[in-house]
Amino acid sequence: MSKHNILLLGSGGRECAIAWKLSQSPLLNSLWVAPGNAGTAQYGTNVPISPMDFEAVGEFAASHAVTMLVVGNEDPLVAGITDFFHSRPELAKVKVIGPSKAGAQLEGSKDFAKGFMQRHHIPTAAYKSITAENIGEGFAFLESLNAPYVLKADGLAAGKGVLIINDLEEAKRELQSMLAGRFGAAGSTVVIEQFLSGIECSVFALTDGEHYQLLPVAKDYKRIGEGDKGLNTGGMGSVSPVSFADDAFMKKVVERIVEPTIAGLKAEQLPYVGFVFFGLINVGSDPYVIEYNCRMGDPETEVVMPRLRSDLVALLEAAADGRLHETTVDIDPRYAVTVMMVSGGYPEAYQKGMTIEGLNTVQHSIVFHAGTARNAEGEVITSGGRVLAVTSYGNTKDEALAQSFANIQNIHFHNSYYRRDIGFDLE
Ligand code: AMP
Ligand code: GLY
Repeated sequence: MSKHNILLLGSGGRECAIAWKLSQSPLLNSLWVAPGNAGTAQYGTNVPISPMDFEAVGEFAASHAVTMLVVGNEDPLVAGITDFFHSRPELAKVKVIGPSKAGAQLEGSKDFAKGFMQRHHIPTAAYKSITAENIGEGFAFLESLNAPYVLKADGLAAGKGVLIINDLEEAKRELQSMLAGRFGAAGSTVVIEQFLSGIECSVFALTDGEHYQLLPVAKDYKRIGEGDKGLNTGGMGSVSPVSFADDAFMKKVVERIVEPTIAGLKAEQLPYVGFVFFGLINVGSDPYVIEYNCRMGDPETEVVMPRLRSDLVALLEAAADGRLHETTVDIDPRYAVTVMMVSGGYPEAYQKGMTIEGLNTVQHSIVFHAGTARNAEGEVITSGGRVLAVTSYGNTKDEALAQSFANIQNIHFHNSYYRRDIGFDLE
C-alpha cells in the first residue's frame, strides 16, 4: 500500500467527519479539502475551489500529485466529475471515490432509480413517472392511491423536491405546478409514489463495483422541531446503531436490497466505486427503499465515521482497486450520536457571521464543523444554517446524548438552536 495525497470535495459536516477520519490514517501523506470549512482546516489544507469547477479541481490535482479524489457531495458526481477525471490522461491514475455519472443517476434521477429497482426486484413504493405529456395518467394514478400523496421532482432539488400532501385536489395542483417549473428542470419529470408508513434508517455500503462492505447503520432526524415537527432541514442529528436494524432486519436488507443493487449496477454496466446510501423504511419488519444517494449521508457520517475503527484510506484504496472483498470492517460497538447546532431561523432566513465561542471548552465530544468560516481576526464564525455537529460516544444512546448536551451548554453563538430529542423514537 502506498501513501496518498488526497483531495476531498465538499464543505459540510460530512466532509469534516471524513477529513477527521482520513487524517488518522498512517496511509495519508497530504490532505486538501475543497473548499472545506473552519473545521476541515484542522485536519488538512483548505483550497478555495468549487467542487463544480472540474477544470480547476483537475488542475489542482495534477499540479499537487493528488493520488485520490474523495467526492463528498452529490452535485459533482451527478454532473460527471468521475468521468472527467478518467477522461484526462494527466488524471487517469487518480483513484476517484465516487460513481460515474451513469452510476450517480441512482441519486440524480428518481425516475431512473425507480426503474432500476423495478428491473432488479428491489422492494420500493409503487410509482408512476409523469411528464407534461402524460399528466392525465398522473391524475388517474393519484386517484387510485390513498392519502397522503407523495410527489418527487425527478432531478436534484437540494433536498426540497419531495412533497407529501394530504388532499387529492391539492396533490393534483402541485403536480401541475411541479411540471410547470416549480423546481425548475428537476421537476420536468415527477415521480408519484405510494405512501409507505414506517420508521426510516440509513444503510451505507462502500463498493468497488463488484464487492461491498457495509458501514454502521444510522438514523437521521430531518425536521427542525422536536417530535419530528416542522420544516425539513439538512438534518438535525443522528444516532448509530439503530435498535430496530437488528440482525434479522439487516439480513433482509442485504439479501433484498444491497446485493441486488450492487449486482444491478454491474449488470447494467454502471461504473460505481464509492458509497451507496440506501434510505430505507421499515414497513412491518420489511425494508423498502425510499431513496438512493450516491454519497454518504449528512449528518449520518458524523456518527458513522466515529464508529469505523478500520483505516478509511485502506478501505478507499481497496475500493478503487477492486479488492474490497479482501478487507474487513471493524466497528466500535459503542453508540455514537450527533446533535446539530443550527442558526436561529434555519431552515428559513437566518444570519451568518456570528462569532462562535467555547469550542476550546469541549471535552469528550468531537465537534464537526458544518457551516463555519474564519473572519479577518481569525475567529471561528457561523457561515451556514447548520453550524456544528457535536458527536459523542456512549455505552447507551442516552449516555452519548448527555455528553453532547453537556458540551453544547458551553458553546455559544447568537440565536443558536438544537433539538433535545435526537433518538427519541429509538429504544
Ligand atoms: P427522499 O428525498 O426521497 O428521501 O424523500 C424525503 C423524505 O420524504 C423521506 O426521508 C421520507 O421521510 C419521505 N418520503 C419519501 N418517499 C416516501 C414514501 N413513498 N412514503 C413515505 N414517506 C416518503
Ligand atoms: N441525511 C440524509 C442525506 O444526507 O441525504
